[in-house]
Amino acid sequence: MIELGKERIPYMATSRPSTSLFIRLDPRARGALQRQVYSGIQRAILDGVVGPGARLPSSRALADDLGISRTTTLLAVQQLQEEGYLSARRGSGMFVADELPDDLLKRRASRPRPRVTHPPLSRRGAALVAAPQGAQRLAGPPRAFRIGTPGVDLFPVSLWWQLASRRMRSVTALQLDYGEPAGLRALRVAIAEHVEAARGTRCEADQVVVVAGAQQGLDLILRLLLDPGDRVWMEEPGYPGARSALVGAGARIVPVRVDGDGLDVEAGTRRAGDARLVYVTPSHQYPLGVPMSLPRRLALLRWASAARGWIVEDDYDSEFRYGARPVPCLHGLDVDGRVIYVGSFSKTLFPALRLGFLIVPPDLQPGVVAARAVADQHPPVLDQAMLADFIVEGHFARHVRRMRVAYRERLEALEAAATRFCRGAITLRPTRTGLHAIADLDGADARIVSREAAQRGVEATPLSAYYAGRDTPVDALVLGFAAVRPEAITRGMQQLAAAIDAARRR
Ligand SMILES: Cc1ncc(COP(=O)(O)O)c(C=O)c1O
Repeated sequence: MIELGKERIPYMATSRPSTSLFIRLDPRARGALQRQVYSGIQRAILDGVVGPGARLPSSRALADDLGISRTTTLLAVQQLQEEGYLSARRGSGMFVADELPDDLLKRRASRPRPRVTHPPLSRRGAALVAAPQGAQRLAGPPRAFRIGTPGVDLFPVSLWWQLASRRMRSVTALQLDYGEPAGLRALRVAIAEHVEAARGTRCEADQVVVVAGAQQGLDLILRLLLDPGDRVWMEEPGYPGARSALVGAGARIVPVRVDGDGLDVEAGTRRAGDARLVYVTPSHQYPLGVPMSLPRRLALLRWASAARGWIVEDDYDSEFRYGARPVPCLHGLDVDGRVIYVGSFSKTLFPALRLGFLIVPPDLQPGVVAARAVADQHPPVLDQAMLADFIVEGHFARHVRRMRVAYRERLEALEAAATRFCRGAITLRPTRTGLHAIADLDGADARIVSREAAQRGVEATPLSAYYAGRDTPVDALVLGFAAVRPEAITRGMQQLAAAIDAARRR
């Protein structure tokens, strides 16, 4: 025990927890001893264990009691003095300051927290918070039938690690400095070559802007191109992440229906012919899965030219097409520079990478790059360098080919399990692209099925979740098939069958 003014304070050098201790040195803790002594005394002062004006034991007495060197306690005490917690009185030692620097913070645990009222959020901020939370995703390990998560179990982690360690071994000073806001040139060149080979469109590397995933690309481009109140066509049903970004940009969203040919351009023209922009997923409509027909594509491009509107083409997963040739992207048909292409590596590689890209018309490029720099300068340079290596050395194309085979197997498992366990209860719509399928329910409400499925450890998202308006189908589910192995898909379908039974009985 050490006398501290009138109070008696126990000090012990131990790592064992004890309610009576307030300086506890943990020899295994990573923090330096000096830091631990500093925090112990500071906590005793802030918790009111030692009051203002109380005398502190000498640094020698502290050191003896704690079994550590005097220099350590001296340095800790000096720091507290410099910060205003302690004051020295000539000849009589060290005292707790009469006025503490943290008084204003009222950190003492026993005191009730004061109620602070902050000014409200901005109108834009409040709208963003109230928007459909499209950018938020389900957490936890992937399970059947998660949407949006690719087969991360098959990602070649050791190869990625080899590329990473090779990059780190040869890192240059330049690569540790700020990089180009448009993205690493080597990666932009690789992306331009990739979209020409795989997506049927041509662009210069200077038109490519690397972004932190498609979501950032959408947010960036919409804030750059739209004024609050501008009307924008949004696919109905559509991608909630895009809807949230539109809300964030202050757009007035005009839902435009999607049919078997994709976005209904005529309906959009009737409802808002003077719209500033349209958001579309023409290669594989999200979530219905239909490709946009050629007449519709041409009609959309004609509308954009006449109305001087922008088309934002989100081409998020069309590398995965089973048994048919890939549908070229809309960007490839654009001769007027109206289409802004949004690409992502979240589905082809893995979502945590947070890398995607925009292809923008040359005259828009400087604006996009300036906005990019305001947002976060640029994506991490070394990650971009590794991705460029991955593409240029042929690993990307190989991985996509391999995943196409794996996803086809998973889709077949989904179809087989649906026939086996849910015959007469669900009908899968024909699926030839992407990572999810639509399942029509016979005689059950999708929202109830979804709740019942969740109780059985299965994620079955109602299609209605993708609609903004009230006119929503209640009898269809969206089922992801990429995230887990065929066996897990089969087990998941068994659980889904039980969930449908339970929903029908309610
Ligand atoms: C329609 C659509 N666009 C884009 C993305 C990709 O977003 P990000 O690159 O931000 O991961 C997704 C992912 O689920 C999506 O479904």
